[in-house]
Amino acid sequence: MITAGVVGATGLVGRMMMQVLQERSFPVDRFHAYASRSSEGVEVVFNGHNHAVEIITPESFSKGMFLFGATSSELAEIWVPVALDAGAIVVDNSSAYRMAPEVPLVVPEVNADVLTGREQLVANPNCSTIQLAVALAPLAELATIEWISVATYQAVSGAGTPLLEELVRQEQGFDPGKEGIRYHRNVVTSIGPPEADGYCMEELKLMRELPRILGIRFPIYASTARVPVHTGHTEAVTVRFTSDLHPKQVLTALSTAPGIRISASGACPMDAEGMDDVIVDRIRTHPEDRRTLMFWVISDNTRKGAALNAVQIAEYLLRFRT
Ligand SMILES: NC(=O)c1ccc[n+]([C@@H]2O[C@H](COP(=O)([O-])OP(=O)(O)OC[C@H]3O[C@@H](n4cnc5c(N)ncnc54)[C@H](OP(=O)(O)O)[C@@H]3O)[C@@H](O)[C@H]2O)c1
Repeated sequence: MITAGVVGATGLVGRMMMQVLQERSFPVDRFHAYASRSSEGVEVVFNGHNHAVEIITPESFSKGMFLFGATSSELAEIWVPVALDAGAIVVDNSSAYRMAPEVPLVVPEVNADVLTGREQLVANPNCSTIQLAVALAPLAELATIEWISVATYQAVSGAGTPLLEELVRQEQGFDPGKEGIRYHRNVVTSIGPPEADGYCMEELKLMRELPRILGIRFPIYASTARVPVHTGHTEAVTVRFTSDLHPKQVLTALSTAPGIRISASGACPMDAEGMDDVIVDRIRTHPEDRRTLMFWVISDNTRKGAALNAVQIAEYLLRFRT
């Protein structure tokens, strides 16, 4: 008998989690949808049944129940400890626990082997990190990576419902106002305000999370930007290896790796929308430098970048139960 719940069930990731759980027939006997007080009275549909949205109380959670977290990190810091005390198993999408040494940070195609089945809490990496980790893992098996450089073009849905609604408002001609940021017809080159050292938090997340997942360290030169795209993160990646690579080797490694779809056509974020695989596009070796590889990585940030990855983690945890 499996009880499952989505915390933040009315949000972009929470709704996608319910969709992915259904698509993949994750076995759920009892289901709970949690959100804030402002969603009281709202119903969500899961597996063909209506579920009234519930407010979290100290009695909400129970031993062995699977909880999929899709709230802000500030909220996760409040409800996750309560859930763990109750004996629940949590896969959390927020950044609250990603760098906690005792909490595994998992992209199943890359490092599912760190899971032992004894975990009560597993962290889902940031959306821009997940797609990059999926693409880099097979390359790291081929040769030693010296450094990587990545520039991201991230969809507004990556920042949740409020920003997606704000872009739609701006597309309809509304002005962002004096304090607001113009997203429509613009590229916003700092995702969140720059920190004291000039990096924005999105860049730091990439630089901190990637070595934890890949289990190797190398310099990561990251620049992240928000673009007026609804769904789908795009990344321009350059990887420098310590030895020459043959293009055939690269293509074989990437095309046989799980979770990757190879393209050579100049794919766009719209091509990735609704897709589980990460698209690796226009792979090219530098003509004068056979140690340097360039490619694009594109993925649906709400699926592989969030909900799908979380459900895949739960599927692994479930295997230890049977
Ligand atoms: N969007 C992405 O592509 C993406 C990718 C990777 C990771 N993430 C992370 O996933 C998390 C969720 O993101 P999102 O995009 O889904 O945000 P969102 O669309 O803004 O949804 C936030 C959810 O949190 C709920 N919530 C707010 N206060 C609550 C409370 N007191 N108790 C319970 N639930 C509460 C909201 O409920 P109400 O509707 O009732 O306010 C809503 O369901 C964030 O930590 C985000 O950084 C997002």
